Amino acid sequence: MRSADATTGRVLILGAGGHGRVVLDILLSGGTATVVGFLDNNPSIQNRRVDGLPVLGTIADLPAVVAEHEVTGVVIAIGDNGTRRGLSRQIQQAGIPLVNAIHPSASLAFNASLGRGVVVAAGVVVCANCQIGDAVILNTGCIVDHQTMIGEGSHICPGVRVAGRVKVESGVFVGIGATIVPHVTLGCESIVGAGSVVLEDVPELATVVGVPAKSVRLCNASEDDAAMLV
Ligand SMILES: CC(C)(COP(=O)(O)OP(=O)(O)OC[C@H]1O[C@@H](n2cnc3c(N)ncnc32)[C@H](O)[C@@H]1OP(=O)(O)O)[C@@H](O)C(=O)NCCC(=O)NCCS
Repeated sequence: MRSADATTGRVLILGAGGHGRVVLDILLSGGTATVVGFLDNNPSIQNRRVDGLPVLGTIADLPAVVAEHEVTGVVIAIGDNGTRRGLSRQIQQAGIPLVNAIHPSASLAFNASLGRGVVVAAGVVVCANCQIGDAVILNTGCIVDHQTMIGEGSHICPGVRVAGRVKVESGVFVGIGATIVPHVTLGCESIVGAGSVVLEDVPELATVVGVPAKSVRLCNASEDDAAMLV
């Protein structure tokens, strides 16, 4: 890991679900950050502990909790792409520092660029000249090959292989274990089904599945369903 990417200071995690637990593990594995706790809108976990850390309030409590707990950085751990991207913009506009969570086992090329609020899970490989946008999730063990761009708020699920010179536009969900061949463009808010092999461009808002991947619908109604599985 490049030392400049180490997250330090007092960090707050937004979202205490499955992805929140993964982000906590990433931060603790790095060993350089103090995690103060979580915020989550689920009423049933308020004032309780998740993996030993307290749930300190809901997302609406963010400014107060940042001040009270002297938080120096926030990581968004929410699977839904639209929610995560919206929060990322709001938090940055409010001047609250959004930080990246990068697992120490991840391998990032020296000239890969990362935006803010990016989560890079265990075993991820990001190759030369890649550009990773704000609020992107690169989930466990995915590979992003050279000169590929991953747009703001996209989620590349565990075990996905994205070849070189691919363009993933904003808000894209690439399901677990999918493969994207070189030079393909995945349009805004498109969805690639688990295990699919994408050989050609995917239009914005389309859902494609299978080997080779074919379109099953041209709307985005299922993104919430996909994110529920996170
Ligand atoms: C692509 C996906 C989002 C579609 O979900 P959905 O909108 O509920 O779609 P449906 O289950 O109604 O499936 C529609 C059709 O596509 C097929 N299909 C769905 N996902 C498929 C996949 N991954 N590969 C091949 N075919 C698939 C279904 O069998 C169905 O075919 P049919 O119409 O012939 O019966 C979902 O199946 C998927 O792959 N999600 C990935 C979840 C994931 O990776 N989570 C990891 C989180 S870290």
